[in-house]
Amino acid sequence: MGDFKFMDQYKVKFLDHLKTRIEYTEPKNLYEPIRYILDLGGKRLRPILTLMTAELFGGDPDEAMDAALAIEMFHNFSLVHDDIMDDAPLRRGRTTVHEKWDLNTGILSGDAMLILAYQFFEGYPPETFKKLTALFSKTAIEVCEGQQYDVDFETRDDVTIPEYLKMIEYKTSVLVAAAMKMGAIIANASDKDAEIIYEFGRNLGIAFQLQDDYLDAFGDPKTFGKQVGGDIMENKKTFLYLKALQMAPKQRKEGLMHLYSIKPENPSTKVEAVKAIFTESGAVDLTKEEIKSHTQKAFDVLGQLTIAEANKQVLRKFGEALMERTV
Ligand code: IPE
Ligand code: IPE
Ligand code: MG
Ligand code: MG
Ligand code: MG
Repeated sequence: MGDFKFMDQYKVKFLDHLKTRIEYTEPKNLYEPIRYILDLGGKRLRPILTLMTAELFGGDPDEAMDAALAIEMFHNFSLVHDDIMDDAPLRRGRTTVHEKWDLNTGILSGDAMLILAYQFFEGYPPETFKKLTALFSKTAIEVCEGQQYDVDFETRDDVTIPEYLKMIEYKTSVLVAAAMKMGAIIANASDKDAEIIYEFGRNLGIAFQLQDDYLDAFGDPKTFGKQVGGDIMENKKTFLYLKALQMAPKQRKEGLMHLYSIKPENPSTKVEAVKAIFTESGAVDLTKEEIKSHTQKAFDVLGQLTIAEANKQVLRKFGEALMERTV
């Protein structure tokens, strides 16, 4: 994994808040899955970003704790429903909620998590509350739009790269951006600075999802925690796939399109064949370049921020670590 050690102080505090702030009551079949998914771990990147951003803008990270929890709760809700939509068996190295319980449990526990997420904003003063919940709602509906595009693209064979980039911006990067902007809002940063940090998070979030797509195909099954090759099995139109179509010679391109039209009983032959085309076409290298270029775009906006250079350096360090991640 990339070296996120410099952020451990935030993680420790956040995990303590996560443990003590949530009340798990009855009925068991509603709350157990919520506890299960939240306790499975994960990198906790988004809540850490909220706390860290609050502090970088001169605010008190403790005041950002409930917003951070709302963000992590929403993220986990989206994962529970995403795993249903993606037919995923594994999450963070364990069985997914809908497979451990059943589909209905996944749906309802997910719904409850979305509502619990909103409740964590209730303690903020009216002005802050209004800003945070407006941003949260805008973000949440965009995530839904992104998720719908993602699913629609599975059965389309004319998806373009701009369409793909818009899809990942919505399904993934706006939440990363909002996590950071919430930290800025709680720290009473200027509107301008809040917008700039949102842009930073949005670009990093795009790089983050590109890396997620790469790891989904090429990650180490022992450490990745999700089913490697899952995107290929589901015919996901990732950057790897779209670039391979552009780059591969005619015969290989047709082979790839054929492979992406079938769902074989034993998918491992398909996964290996597709990965070979991703690699030999140059799509893997181009994906890595694309990750770098979006990270650089994120770094470019930092110049406009009115915070100390040392604080900008923390943000750069985070961006660098993200590119190195293997989980
Ligand atoms: C997974 O997010 C979903 C994506 C948007 C790619 P993370 O990779 O942050 O998942 P956890 O929370 O660390 O498990
Ligand atoms: C997930 O995208 C985005 C959301 C959960 C909103 P993915 O489907 O790629 O996420 P993983 O790979 O299952 O974590
Ligand atoms: Mg998924
Ligand atoms: Mg998905
Ligand atoms: Mg993925």
